[in-house]
This record gives sequence, C-alpha cells and structure tokens, in this order.
Amino acid sequence: EKGGYRHFMLKEIMEQPRVLRDCMRGRLDPLSGKVTLGGLMPALDRLAKARRIIICGCGTSWHAALVGEYLIETLAKIPVEVEYASEFRYRNPVLFKDDVVIVISQSGETADTLEAVRVAKKHGCLCVGIVNIVGSSIARETDAGIYLHIGPEIGVASTKAFTGQVMALSMFTLVLAVQTGALLQDEANRLGLELAEIPDKIARMLNEDTLNKIQNMASTYRYAHNFLYLGRGTNFPVALEGALKLKEISYIHAEGYAAAEMKHGPIALIDEMMPVVILAPKSDVIYEKVKSGVQEVVARKGSVVIITDEGNHDLDDLAEFVIETPITSEYFSAMITGIPLQLLAYYIADYRGCEIDTPRNLAKSVTVE
Ligand code: M6R
Repeated sequence: EKGGYRHFMLKEIMEQPRVLRDCMRGRLDPLSGKVTLGGLMPALDRLAKARRIIICGCGTSWHAALVGEYLIETLAKIPVEVEYASEFRYRNPVLFKDDVVIVISQSGETADTLEAVRVAKKHGCLCVGIVNIVGSSIARETDAGIYLHIGPEIGVASTKAFTGQVMALSMFTLVLAVQTGALLQDEANRLGLELAEIPDKIARMLNEDTLNKIQNMASTYRYAHNFLYLGRGTNFPVALEGALKLKEISYIHAEGYAAAEMKHGPIALIDEMMPVVILAPKSDVIYEKVKSGVQEVVARKGSVVIITDEGNHDLDDLAEFVIETPITSEYFSAMITGIPLQLLAYYIADYRGCEIDTPRNLAKSVTVE
C-alpha cells in the first residue's frame, strides 16, 4: 500500500505529478487551457460580485490560503483576507452578506474550520469549500466547492494536499478572474496551459540526481537545532510550509519568514550553526534584492541552501547547496518549489530515526477544539 516506498510521506511526495493530473482532469482542457469547475457553477455569479473574500484554514491549509490570497488579488482583483479558522471563529468577525468565505481543509473534518463555515453561514455569506475528502463534514456544509481529487493522504505531514490545494486555488482564480473581467478568456487560457505543464515539470525535477542531492543536504544538516526558511510573494507561504514540515516530522525548530523581514530581526540569529533555506526564483521581480539577502547571510557565516530556477548558476559560489527547479509562471511556482522542502524534511527526519508517518503528539485530523 506504500507503493514500494518506506513511508507514506515519501510515496505521497513522489505521486504529486500523477495526483495533480487527477486534480485537473475534466476541468482544465489541455488543448485550449480553459478551466471549467462544475462545483462552482451555482455560486459563480455571487463569487464574482464578492466585496471581499476571506480564506480560512489551519496548518498547511492556511499556508495554501496565503498562496490563494496572492493569486486572487493579483489575477482576479478581489480583496482577500486570510485567517486562521480558530481566530476567525472566536473573534466575532465583521462580515457582510456579499463577503465570500472560502474554507480549505484536506480532511474536511477539522473542528475549527468546520466552525468557521457555520459562522460564515450565520452571517449570510456564501461559503465555498476546497476539500479533499468527498462527503466530509465541511464538504457537506459548504454551499459550493472544489474537491482536490488527489486520493487519500495518510502521512500526518501534509504534502500532496498542499500542492493540490494550490492547484485548486489556481484553477479557481482563473475561472473567477474571467468572470470578474479582470482577465480576458485568452489570457486565462494562456495561464491554464502553463498550469497543465506543472505535473510534467515536477516529474522531471523528481529525478535521482535531485533526490541524491537533497539526501546529501539532509545528511549535512541532520544535527542542526534551528533552520530558517525565506521566500517572498507566493514563495513566502512555501517558506512557512517548509518550516512546518521540518518541525512536525524531525522536531527541529524552524521558522519561515518573508525574505525582506530578515533584516528586521531574525538576522541576529544567523551564525555557522544556522542553515538558511532561501527560495530565490529568477523570475522574482526583486530577485536582485533577494540575492543581496543571500550575501548578507553568507557574510555572517550562515550556511545557505538556494532553491532557484534551472540553469541559474548565479548563486553557486555563495551557497552550500543549490537545488534547481523547473521554471514556471511566478503565480504557480509554489507547487514546484515546495517539493524540495518536503523532501528535505523527509530525509532529515529519516536520518534522525523519527516516526515519519506518525510524528509524536500529532493526529492526522484535529477534530477537537
Ligand atoms: O485536514 P486539514 O487540512 O483541515 O488539516 C489542517 C491541519 O491540521 C494540517 O494541515 C496540519 O497542519 C498538517 N499536519 C500539516 O502537515
């Protein structure tokens, strides 16, 4: 059942190309790039007229929500707020009838997220679910939704669910952006074609060379006590997610930061004992600034891991390790750049002899409050 892998987590990381194809099947036309989402049809008109969208989730699903905020605001031009479901439900939020609440949950059973649905509905808001488990409580209680179709996720550390959630949010954004008029159908289709290529790009990245390199990196850093992950734009949530993965399964303390925030505090932590993983795609509009951030870390003897575009050797001299990732639009890169970080956490936890699929103190779904 683990498909020949030693852990569900590794199986679930490696099957991401296939499950993303499943997620797009019947929704994204691979010839035209046009996206159609049946489960959203009844809600589309109300969605496009939303005054504001609020996205709620917990843990990894909250990280996916942050990517969604970036996508929806940039491409569909609707203001978005992201909240932890637990905060949203308890703080008497000000909600209007023309607000739309999107909830994201792999299991569809997380207690705080389910309660966020109830709060939203009590205020008369349209509530849309992005859920993996068909027929789960959240799927049943929301007005409309998108299923991930990525198959069951068994490993407690969420991997393919994050990538699937970002894929669902990407398709959602393209449909919404056309409906609001922020994108022409042609422009949306062009981005759709870009999305269609993501699974092949991931498959290409997951070759033996990449796996060996990440394993080697994991062996080098297995005794570290702290890690820092930095990224900006859609790669900021990827940094948060990379840090969460490492904490959960290897019990190493890690923090994710928006790259430019480093100089406002965390830079004080950097010394030779502190690996810093920096997401630095060249397509980044402020790539040069991110690069100078790398130089600052190196100047303080920090050991730097760079995740960057294929063929970019700009940072080879500064970094201890460089992982090259296939190039895609900056909107969608989270689905690719997140994967080396999943693998890094996996291999470090494996070297440390941790119970990877069932980490201590954690349950797969948090149905208590
Ligand atoms: O099933 P959900 O997506 O609602 O779960 C939310 C979080 O509990 C979950 O993402 C958790 O943070 C994972 N263990 C992360 O790997």
